[in-house]
Amino acid sequence: MQMYKKLSKSKKNSTFVVQLKKTKMSKITVVGAGNVGATCANVMAQKELAAEIVLLDIKEGVSEGKALDMMQTATLCDFDTRIKGVTNDYAATAHSDVVVVTSGVPRKPGMTREELIGTNAGIVKSVVENVLKHSPEAVIVMISNPMDTMTYLALKTSKLPKHRIIGMGGMLDSARFKCYLSQALQAPASDVEGIVIGGHGDATMIPLTRFATYKGVAASALLDTDTLNKVAANTMVGGATLTKMLGTSAWYAPGAAGAMLVEAIIRDQKKMFPCCVLLEGEYGETGICIGVPVVVGKNGWETIVQYDLNADEQAAFKKSAGAVRSMNNALN
Ligand code: APR
Repeated sequence: MQMYKKLSKSKKNSTFVVQLKKTKMSKITVVGAGNVGATCANVMAQKELAAEIVLLDIKEGVSEGKALDMMQTATLCDFDTRIKGVTNDYAATAHSDVVVVTSGVPRKPGMTREELIGTNAGIVKSVVENVLKHSPEAVIVMISNPMDTMTYLALKTSKLPKHRIIGMGGMLDSARFKCYLSQALQAPASDVEGIVIGGHGDATMIPLTRFATYKGVAASALLDTDTLNKVAANTMVGGATLTKMLGTSAWYAPGAAGAMLVEAIIRDQKKMFPCCVLLEGEYGETGICIGVPVVVGKNGWETIVQYDLNADEQAAFKKSAGAVRSMNNALN
């Protein structure tokens, strides 16, 4: 979609000349206008990632109301993105560059992400089919849980090229890891690096403590082993901790992580994030979608980055892959 974005002024011969800057603008759809979908749309609008964001939900009026509420923040938060809410109207999503799927049911206290499989599989399958009828070129970002299995399901049912389906979970888990690391180090989270790979489940994710750093210094040199292990343990139950507090699963960090992933696609940033993608031999696994570091750009995920895992980390990855594989088998 072409449009003219913002007027810029330049001084020429002592007079201001108004120039129109021609910019390629994009369209993004978010399916599911619940806590995560609405938060994601809100963050993306504030970042002006697209000319238009369409918010779609099955519940009459919910996305229309949330979209209108968000539009009324445009002058307050200084953005020009249009946000349109629709009830199950996939024609309105046509020609989206990126589609974020958050539709489904969230976790309740005591539930695992895996227990959502039956309900969410049916929803995700029909959503992806409908989306692709109107946006056959879109990159699909999967957030619905159990995210590794939903990403696999979307890939298998859509038959899209593998690069165009990306699951977001590892970005959220890594954000939580960095948050807990920063608290342990008493340092700003933005000064901390950390990555979580493997499945997006409490028992399957792998916070790579050996690779965590504070301004280039290994976290293991600054924190004792018990503290570092506690950081990893807190990360792994990060979602469950919040579900217990909130009575439903979290939304600020999941929504923001989704927006950051979309930004890398829309702006062709070539940033490296841990995302859930199809493995074909990388990290010793084949035929599953699971979290690994990938470079993300306009075509979706572009390359898988191979970390030099030690024997323990590789064994943990193998175990995690096994759990994700048996979850995928439950689809049958
Ligand atoms: N089509 C469109 N929207 C749907 C459909 C469908 N077939 N089925 C359900 N929805 C909508 C619901 O109406 C609801 O508004 O999905 C939305 C889900 O929102 P919430 O219940 O608030 O759940 P949320 O916390 O946003 O989590 C959504 O993200 O993090 C994951 O585990 C979480 O799978 C869950 C998903």
